[in-house]
Amino acid sequence: MGNRQNVFEGSSAIRDFLDPGKNTYLPLVELPSTLNPFAGDNVRIFAKLMNMMPLGNVKAAPAFNMIEEKYLNGELEGVRKIVENSSGNTVSSVALVARHFGINDIQSYVPSEISWHKLLMLLFFGVEPIVNVEPENPDEGDPNSGVSKAKKDAEQDDVLNPGQYDNQANPRAHERWTAAQIWDQTDGKIDVFCAGLGTTGTIIGNSRYLKAKKPSLQVVGAMRAPDNYVPGVRTEKLLKLVGFDWGKHVDTIERVETALSYQLSLEMSRSGIIVGPSSGLALAGLQQYLGDLKARNGLDELGDKETGEIICVFPCPDGPLPYLDEYFKYIDKSHFPSIQNEDLLLNKP
Ligand SMILES: Cc1ncc(COP(=O)(O)O)c(C=O)c1O
Repeated sequence: MGNRQNVFEGSSAIRDFLDPGKNTYLPLVELPSTLNPFAGDNVRIFAKLMNMMPLGNVKAAPAFNMIEEKYLNGELEGVRKIVENSSGNTVSSVALVARHFGINDIQSYVPSEISWHKLLMLLFFGVEPIVNVEPENPDEGDPNSGVSKAKKDAEQDDVLNPGQYDNQANPRAHERWTAAQIWDQTDGKIDVFCAGLGTTGTIIGNSRYLKAKKPSLQVVGAMRAPDNYVPGVRTEKLLKLVGFDWGKHVDTIERVETALSYQLSLEMSRSGIIVGPSSGLALAGLQQYLGDLKARNGLDELGDKETGEIICVFPCPDGPLPYLDEYFKYIDKSHFPSIQNEDLLLNKP
């Protein structure tokens, strides 16, 4: 053990490993010009690899912060079970963190559109899924939504609903860790931040921290285009179920389609940045924003007045593997190699 960096040991080793404050910074990686159509305009685009958190997804940060805050406030006493509404990442992260705070029984409402492998992932981590058909056009507090059902279940004394859609510990996690890291890693030179809108914790936490440091920062929120699917991200209609006042933290909204999100995720993955569909959505939202601005006013209003450089950052929430079969559904097969001797395969889907 010559090099002591990144070692977690002793009785709290795994809990420390899951604590974002006790980990090294997550990578910030600049995209090559093949993935940055604005490279010739002095635009630099950086991917913040939240998928490289110990639990493999962005939700490890809010999960840890929500559970730790409840613990520090004495709200975990007597809690036997946790119930959350989640597209998969939050509840698996919550489950793995909560076990280190003595809670083992974890249930999750999951949308009926959840991908099969994501569901298998929940079973793998020991989370009990409850499939829910989400209302198509819900109002806040709609009793048929998984968000409301999880809240209702937590009316029992020994059940806790972390409540990622209105629990301030969610955006605060991003202020504490994600945004603070991005600020340091860009030497305060970040000009544009673009993220997908799910619970909106990522966009609120980053916007709050970064705009306080640099009021000229532009925050772009990327949502799913109507009737388009991207796991972890919501459409405008589904965002009505989110309790946070996210609109005031966002300067521009971009609506992004499924196929483009999956395509850009595939391209990033093939370049060596192995990230999932919602990472593609965030990059697509950023590209749409820059393209619109360039066509309307030019990009001069952004960026450093001396160097002319425009620094953009988008977070990558998770990896592609839980959604692998979906890439073959949303991307034309001409983008994939063919299988030689396919007829010899013993196991075919
Ligand atoms: C894969 C994925 N992408 C994006 C998001 C959106 O992040 P946020 O909930 O912070 O808005 C989530 C949130 O669950 C997610 O799981």
